[in-house]
Amino acid sequence: MPLRNIVVFGATSAIAQEALRVFVQRGASVYCVGRNPDKLSAVISDLRVRADAGQKVDGQSANLLDTAAHPALFAAARDTLGDIDAVLVAHGTLPDQAQCEASVERTLAAIADNGTSVISLLTVAANEFAARGRGVIAAISSVAGDRGRQSNYVYGASKSLVTTFMQGLRNRLATKGVQVVTIKPGFIDTPMTAAFPKSGMLWTTAQRAGRAVADAMEKGRDVVYVPGYWFWIMTILRHVPERIFKKLRL
Ligand SMILES: NC(=O)c1ccc[n+]([C@@H]2O[C@H](COP(=O)([O-])OP(=O)(O)OC[C@H]3O[C@@H](n4cnc5c(N)ncnc54)[C@H](OP(=O)(O)O)[C@@H]3O)[C@@H](O)[C@H]2O)c1
Repeated sequence: MPLRNIVVFGATSAIAQEALRVFVQRGASVYCVGRNPDKLSAVISDLRVRADAGQKVDGQSANLLDTAAHPALFAAARDTLGDIDAVLVAHGTLPDQAQCEASVERTLAAIADNGTSVISLLTVAANEFAARGRGVIAAISSVAGDRGRQSNYVYGASKSLVTTFMQGLRNRLATKGVQVVTIKPGFIDTPMTAAFPKSGMLWTTAQRAGRAVADAMEKGRDVVYVPGYWFWIMTILRHVPERIFKKLRL
């Protein structure tokens, strides 16, 4: 289903920017929410160049940790776009696992960045769309949420929270005309992974990931691994017995 009016939270993310370009290229109007005002205005300017005269491209900067402000962000998007067809929640951070292990504060901050702030936005979107009986709600979770590993289990746990929350939301909203789309990327070359070596075959670009996000939302998919081969990798990883898994250095 073509989506006409789309709100993107975390619009300055590399993956979100690419998804936004696809949406605008397909004729949608978009409302972009991002934390850094300079980056956000560059994203909006780029999209305006790509948009036709009838398309609206606007937005505002906001720190999405401020969950009390989430309903007002939706209201502002509605004021600009009119009826909202779809919401994409894309923001996130990749915490340093070792620092999280040494600090409860850092662990909880990572869970707020990637988990609780996301489920706050999903809750506002769910209640708006359920009342109206239509809409697409998407968020970028991660393959990291499919099984806890020693190298990134704080990030993984926050993504698990999002994945499980969305599973329940999908079950709740299935009969109310609302699609809930969980995106699970593997390794994507973006600023978030700038410090990682990119030599392996499992890496893909933000452009391909952004297109996959846009396609999944327009098709109203349930759960999408990006790229798709991560479904098979994670299926194998999830089925390794715990007595073996706990001895692996992953
Ligand atoms: N790259 C990967 O390999 C990969 C794999 C699996 C899942 N993901 C997920 O994909 C999503 C997009 O990440 P990306 O790879 O595109 O990385 P990215 O380019 O680094 O984007 C992350 C974005 O999140 C924003 N953000 C973080 N905290 C925020 C807050 N409190 N309020 C508002 N915005 C906030 C950042 O804004 P600032 O610019 O202001 O910092 C940044 O624009 C994230 O949810 C990430 O966890 C990525």
